[in-house]
Amino acid sequence: MKQQIIMKLLTVMAGLGIALGAVTTHASPEKDRQEFIKHYTAKFPNIKVEDYVYGALAFDADGRAQYDAIMEFPPFDSEIEKGRQMWETPFKNGKTYADCLPNGGKQIAGNYPMFDEAKGKVVTLHDAINQCRTANGEEAFKLNDMKTMGLLTAYMRTLSDGMMMNIKAETPRAMAAYEDGKKTFFSRKGQLNFACASCHVQNAGSRLRSELISPAVGHAVHWPVFRGGDNLVSLQNRYSGCFSQVRAVSPAVGSETMNNLEYFHSALSNGLPLKASVFRK
Ligand code: HEC
Repeated sequence: MKQQIIMKLLTVMAGLGIALGAVTTHASPEKDRQEFIKHYTAKFPNIKVEDYVYGALAFDADGRAQYDAIMEFPPFDSEIEKGRQMWETPFKNGKTYADCLPNGGKQIAGNYPMFDEAKGKVVTLHDAINQCRTANGEEAFKLNDMKTMGLLTAYMRTLSDGMMMNIKAETPRAMAAYEDGKKTFFSRKGQLNFACASCHVQNAGSRLRSELISPAVGHAVHWPVFRGGDNLVSLQNRYSGCFSQVRAVSPAVGSETMNNLEYFHSALSNGLPLKASVFRK
């Protein structure tokens, strides 16, 4: 029954003939970001761009007040503490993450994903952590393992709280990866034939079932999140969730498609401050 209502809602939304034309191809990341912001500020003139970091809560004063109350004493502090212990525990060779990541791992998360020219591909922060592990003789963590990679990044990214997102795509190869991510963002897929943009651009601020839909600008600054207070979710896991909402098969977490999507999607939040490990419904 519930399923039927959802299907109906989605069909109505699809039937509206949502157009995806607002953003031109082969623009620069900065131009794209400005186009997105122009779209949202025209639609929501009273919402400040800085508030997009709160996602759907930017449209929901009550939800935002609840969020603020929860974030005063986050129920997941003890989980972040576990991540801190992992961060501080040396590898078997005595080295630490701080020894092998740039700037001791502080104030760097906003530079990721970055395009690695030598490797010829996008490197996420998770990849950088795994490179650090393998370079020190440790096994790589599984990207989806929330008890290891999840908890570690929940802490590690707090070391970059307040840093401005600063994604760069300057070389032709970097731009190609960026464009590939953009293509994924704008491609309709799944049985419901929706693109990321159908919901997070054209329908940002609208309701889907009981949920308000967030704008894509501001999306990438606060990961991982603790959904419901205890369910740790990474950004790419969240992408997978959205792919399955439209009955599409999600690309694998850590695949080139997902990494390029994260690259494009993160650049949309350039200039907004990071705040790791937040509460989400
Ligand atoms: C059918 C509509 C729909 C589509 C298509 C969709 N999403 Fe979502 N998405 C949602 C809803 C609803 C939520 C939960 C409410 C919110 O935070 O927007 C959500 C949440 C998210 C969040 C978490 C926001 C936060 O602050 O916690 C991210 C990130 C996201 N989506 C990215 C994507 C990406 C990338 C795609 C394309 C692969 C996509 N979504 C496709 C509806 C959609």
